[in-house]
Amino acid sequence: MPIDGTTKLYGIIGHPVGHSMSPAMHNAAFAATGINGVYVAMDVEDAGRAVTALRELGFVGVSVTVPHKEAVMAHVDEIDPVARRIGAVNTLLFYRHPDDGQVVVRGFNTDWQGANLALAEKIRLAGSRVLVLGAGGAARAVGFGLVEAGARVVISNRTEARGKDLAESLGCRFTAPDRLHEVEADVLVNTTPVGMVPHADGLPIDPDLLPRFSLVMDIVYAPLETRLLREAAAAGCQVIDGLAMLQYQGAVQFKIWTGVRPPVDVMRRALLEQLAAH
Ligand code: ATR
Repeated sequence: MPIDGTTKLYGIIGHPVGHSMSPAMHNAAFAATGINGVYVAMDVEDAGRAVTALRELGFVGVSVTVPHKEAVMAHVDEIDPVARRIGAVNTLLFYRHPDDGQVVVRGFNTDWQGANLALAEKIRLAGSRVLVLGAGGAARAVGFGLVEAGARVVISNRTEARGKDLAESLGCRFTAPDRLHEVEADVLVNTTPVGMVPHADGLPIDPDLLPRFSLVMDIVYAPLETRLLREAAAAGCQVIDGLAMLQYQGAVQFKIWTGVRPPVDVMRRALLEQLAAH
């Protein structure tokens, strides 16, 4: 659809943001659904000033990425309750208040929903036992999502204090990396960068433990088939690659912004094309 005087504005703020695959994913979704919108990458250093500008310019929906996911929370009018509990916002919706017509900015976190939707394609999350490796921002979103869905979560992390902090805020157990053989879980989720290029031979867990899991998800997507996923598949596990969470968190954003059912296959194809082009 050509850009014209009524084209709606969407985008992503981050720093840096030039390598984001979200513009390709969302613009492909607009094209597939016939929505007159355009989604651009905006490299900004100050999240607060950016929100003021976006509000003034009439943006409808904006993604928020590193390093602004926490800082942006102080600059929005409303925050979705789960995003508040996670302590990070990755999605902004700008809408006019029905009473006074003022623009209201509402913050959401779709990362946890992205992880849950990806996992829910393969497994019933309620009652599942899930081992999460890592305790950074991604682990926090994934962990809160799993607890929200009724899964039983165990956190493991290289730095014990950080792992224990996250486990405590999730109300779940922590297990040190050298005691992972003691954990009984159905699902393994890697949220660490171990296995990412240029260290693609890295493995975040002893491969001898992999046959214990029925499902393994990696959030690393470069390479798409990480060593973890390759070894997990060889051990008989189902696997979910790192594009799935990205694709589904974007799909939830698209639904929040447009109210239209997201074309998830189109969005995944756009991400795959971006990966191939890099
Ligand atoms: P993000 O916000 O993307 O999750 P992050 O906050 O930097 O990124 O967190 C990265 C996670 O991967 C952390 O849990 C980190 O462990 P530490 O808390 O010990 O730093 C983990 N991680 C990073 N590199 C790792 C490595 N080589 N081995 C094991 N864990 C690693």
